Amino acid sequence: MEQKHIVLAGAGMMGASLSQVYAQAGYQVSLWNGSESGLERAKNLIALNQETLRKEGMVTAEQSEELQKRITYTTSKVCMEDCDLMVEAIIENMDAKHKFWEDASRSGGCPAGHQYQWTANPRSSQVGLPSRAVHGPALAESPPSAAPV
Ligand SMILES: NC(=O)c1ccc[n+]([C@@H]2O[C@H](COP(=O)([O-])OP(=O)(O)OC[C@H]3O[C@@H](n4cnc5c(N)ncnc54)[C@H](O)[C@@H]3O)[C@@H](O)[C@H]2O)c1
Repeated sequence: MEQKHIVLAGAGMMGASLSQVYAQAGYQVSLWNGSESGLERAKNLIALNQETLRKEGMVTAEQSEELQKRITYTTSKVCMEDCDLMVEAIIENMDAKHKFWEDASRSGGCPAGHQYQWTANPRSSQVGLPSRAVHGPALAESPPSAAPV
């Protein structure tokens, strides 16, 4: 099976949680964040979640290890140049989101034909976001195996 590559941009609560969901479904995940400290926090959060799932018998140690190996942590935007889907999950601040998408587009990220998703409060304005980007909940409400990647 061809392994799809998903980029999660923003390693907060949403980014860390969605990374696990995609990795659990077998996707290769790059979790991007602007700071190393944010990535470290996300890695610890994911490890803690996995420990709980193992203790509850919801995943085996082997499954959990494989899942965590599918997540790469990075502060480099190179991962955005070659992904099947990019999910933006940075801070709930539309100025920051606009800047993120502009920078990502300029640095070679967001190639045509690839899919993008942004997470935000639905009340927030989406003016200025890439026309190809779709709002998160539509995808998030689908089971990971049915994600349109
Ligand atoms: N947490 C939820 O339950 C939830 C649910 C639905 C939608 N969302 C949406 O998802 C997005 C992320 O939410 P969250 O709860 O993960 O937030 P969070 O505060 O936990 O994480 C935000 C992340 O953005 C990064 N960040 C901060 N400023 C930045 C900037 N200027 N440029 C790039 N990155 C920056 C931080 O380092 C952090 O990793 C928001 O738009 C939020 O509305 C969150």
